[in-house]
Amino acid sequence: MAFNFITAEEAARLIHHGDNIGLSGFTPAGTAKAVTAALAARAEQEHEKGNPFQVGIFTGASTGESCDGVLAKAKAIRYRAPYTTNSSFRAAVNNGEIAYNDIHLSQMAQELRYGFLGKVDTAIIEACEVTPDGKIYLTAAGGIVPTIARLADRIIIELNSAHSKNMIGMHDVYEPLDPPYRKEIPIYKPSDRIGETFVQVDPAKIAGIVETNMPDEARSFTAPDPITEQIGQNVADFLVHDVERGIIPSTFLPLQSGVGNIANAVLSALGRNKTIPAFEMYTEVIQDAVIDLMKQGRIKFGSTCALTVTNDCLNSIYENMDFFRDKFVIRPSEISNNPEVVRRLGVISMNTAIEVDIYGNANSTHITGTKMMNGIGGSGDFTRNAYISIFSCPSVAKEGKISAIVPMVSHVDHSEHSVNIVITEQGIADLRGKSPVERAQAIIEHCAHPDYKDILWDYMKMAMKGQTPHRMSAALALHDTLMKKGDMRLVDWKDYL
Ligand code: COA
Repeated sequence: MAFNFITAEEAARLIHHGDNIGLSGFTPAGTAKAVTAALAARAEQEHEKGNPFQVGIFTGASTGESCDGVLAKAKAIRYRAPYTTNSSFRAAVNNGEIAYNDIHLSQMAQELRYGFLGKVDTAIIEACEVTPDGKIYLTAAGGIVPTIARLADRIIIELNSAHSKNMIGMHDVYEPLDPPYRKEIPIYKPSDRIGETFVQVDPAKIAGIVETNMPDEARSFTAPDPITEQIGQNVADFLVHDVERGIIPSTFLPLQSGVGNIANAVLSALGRNKTIPAFEMYTEVIQDAVIDLMKQGRIKFGSTCALTVTNDCLNSIYENMDFFRDKFVIRPSEISNNPEVVRRLGVISMNTAIEVDIYGNANSTHITGTKMMNGIGGSGDFTRNAYISIFSCPSVAKEGKISAIVPMVSHVDHSEHSVNIVITEQGIADLRGKSPVERAQAIIEHCAHPDYKDILWDYMKMAMKGQTPHRMSAALALHDTLMKKGDMRLVDWKDYL
């Protein structure tokens, strides 16, 4: 079948007000860029004419500025799921302009298939190659492509020459059956392959191919500071200790690590510590630190949903694909983050929290209970099912005005039942096997910043006895004090009795 090559503007005209669009990508890796930017321009033109123009967005995770950014600025998004990190999008969500459904990443594809989220009208998929018989070879991410490609009425391909065709063969595309027909997902080690290297679609559904040459809008990393270095060191020390006392097998277990500078610092510290043998990852994103450790032989293999690396790093992978070909595999998010597989493999999860309470409930998403930061991402997929679940964060934020350790979190993403270990630059709280009161003692003692220890001990003294001691009138007093006085350290417990 002959392809219909079209411009991004022509592709954008195939999308109508009220449509739902499904996007490839996961983090800025592999996401649609050209058609979404053209769609934002189209929305602005329609708005200038006084016409409504908004779409719903289904995607794998966050995207880049030429997707979430420009579409949010153009007020072209009515609804979106799941996770995103874009600041313009965040502002629009917190102004109440966008309906944002922050669901677990592993559930996104199946919720589309189950019909929970509505129809997919158009799928926009970035590819490094497409064949006349409908084989789409993806770029730097798996995301939810198999599902949106099958469910969508029409498919637009962004054929992006900024991605090397060397990526062909690096994907493992597998879409499970839905209940009651679903079978086990037959992954028994991170490197197992269970699917195809391409997404097969009906070529008649490909409405057009837009040729592009646009690098991923990769985020850069700030150099690790002493706090993130210390957190990384504490995580490494914790894992070494658990290997030495036989809790973690001496062969080690696959690791999952979240996105960001702390995650990079943790991996670098693990790489440096030779007590930990060369290890594997079963994770949703591979960042630069993982690639460095692969080059050093410290990471043997990575199963991921995306190469969330800087463009220099991505190009070095493309140029050295002979080395990397047996080092990683890219999977759809419902497989990379699959709870069944995470539990079976014994993945050790390492994620970052905004705040953790003294009992171990973790808030990954909301600032002071109401404002969305980014979203839950895959942290819940891994945490709930991990062999050991770790949360780390700096003990304070905003020059000490905010304690990350609080009496009660202002929003719960991961409950005390799922959180095993809390780590800050101050130290390590091992919550396994402990009652709530014992957990509170460990967290205040080992993780709270010295400025907040007495404040938290005083809260414990005034808390009503019970399985989980609290004083309800004071449980959110630190947050209330922050809002009223701008600094949690100014809390006066007498005001909350
Ligand atoms: N109250 C208010 N602000 C806080 C805060 C708190 N308790 N804790 C942190 N912040 C602020 C920081 O000051 C910083 O602000 P800035 O951007 O103005 O500098 C911002 O939140 C980010 O904090 P930082 O310490 O730099 O952490 P991060 O960049 O690693 O992000 C999360 C932390 C939790 C927001 C991020 O990891 C996330 O979105 N996680 C959820 C999804 C997830 O876990 N994904 C991975 C799963 S595989």
